[in-house]
Amino acid sequence: MKILKAVLPVAGLGTRFLPITKSVPKELLPIIDTPILQILVEEALSLEIEEVIFVISPEKAAIREYFSRDLKLEKNLKQKNKTEAIKKISTIQKAIKFSFVEQKEALGDGHAILQARELVGDEPFLVLFGDDLIVAKKSAAQQLHEVWQEKKSAVIALIEVEQKETQNYGIAKDKFRSENLVEIAELVEKPKPELAPSNLAIVGKYICPPEIFAILEKHPSESGEIRLIDALKELIKTKPIFGKICQGKRYDTGDKFGLLKANIDFALEHPELKEKIQNYIRTLEF
Ligand code: UTP
Repeated sequence: MKILKAVLPVAGLGTRFLPITKSVPKELLPIIDTPILQILVEEALSLEIEEVIFVISPEKAAIREYFSRDLKLEKNLKQKNKTEAIKKISTIQKAIKFSFVEQKEALGDGHAILQARELVGDEPFLVLFGDDLIVAKKSAAQQLHEVWQEKKSAVIALIEVEQKETQNYGIAKDKFRSENLVEIAELVEKPKPELAPSNLAIVGKYICPPEIFAILEKHPSESGEIRLIDALKELIKTKPIFGKICQGKRYDTGDKFGLLKANIDFALEHPELKEKIQNYIRTLEF
């Protein structure tokens, strides 16, 4: 029952980032110089994952390219003795097996995950959505994994949000809570603050049991999309689902302000940029 596979659904349209997403997948947008997706793959690698499965759309061949080795560029850099640069473009590409499966139409995140069914097989798996970052000493994937090891049940990453923000998230109603671990009673989509059963918001990181595939197959939502959250609502009727209130700072990089905040914060921690960005911010007038 080890978690050996990670599924990264990255076939969405990225409409909030048009026009750039016309030709660059939003998951490859950079935090300074590193695609969001690379940071997520590194998160997956913080577990003993053996295979990362990307669900891409036919338009997102750039993701396949990014995670393949570029031997010509490596040779070029080698001739110029650019060892550090070679590391930057090949370390992650050599680290693990990458697989790709297509979602031909953007019919929802759950539909995307369903496309990975054959590659995953009858095993529990990690899911990381392509636009949710949690920066923490212990990765969010590891935090979820600790719960999985103890409970052997589905686990959802949660963060605490201000009550007024509940309408922007799926919210978990807790049945039982002990510090940062929650047994979930119910999942409620985007409730108004006065109706929200808690302030525990769902983030795009999960450990799913293989049973989720059969549920995904049967459950298109009202919008016609197949969503993971709907399948989890179904699963909870027969199996317990746990939530882990993740420690760390979360960025919604699928949103312009979220990506900007991540870039500013990463720059403020970056050895070459830290002072420059601090000095620059001081010169700004508001
Ligand atoms: P989002 O709903 O945040 O992504 O999906 P989106 O649809 O690309 O964004 P906007 O609203 O149009 O800007 C969360 C994750 O699920 C993937 C996305 O690529 C993202 O990583 N996804 C979503 C799919 O793989 N397929 C889908 O049909 C929908």
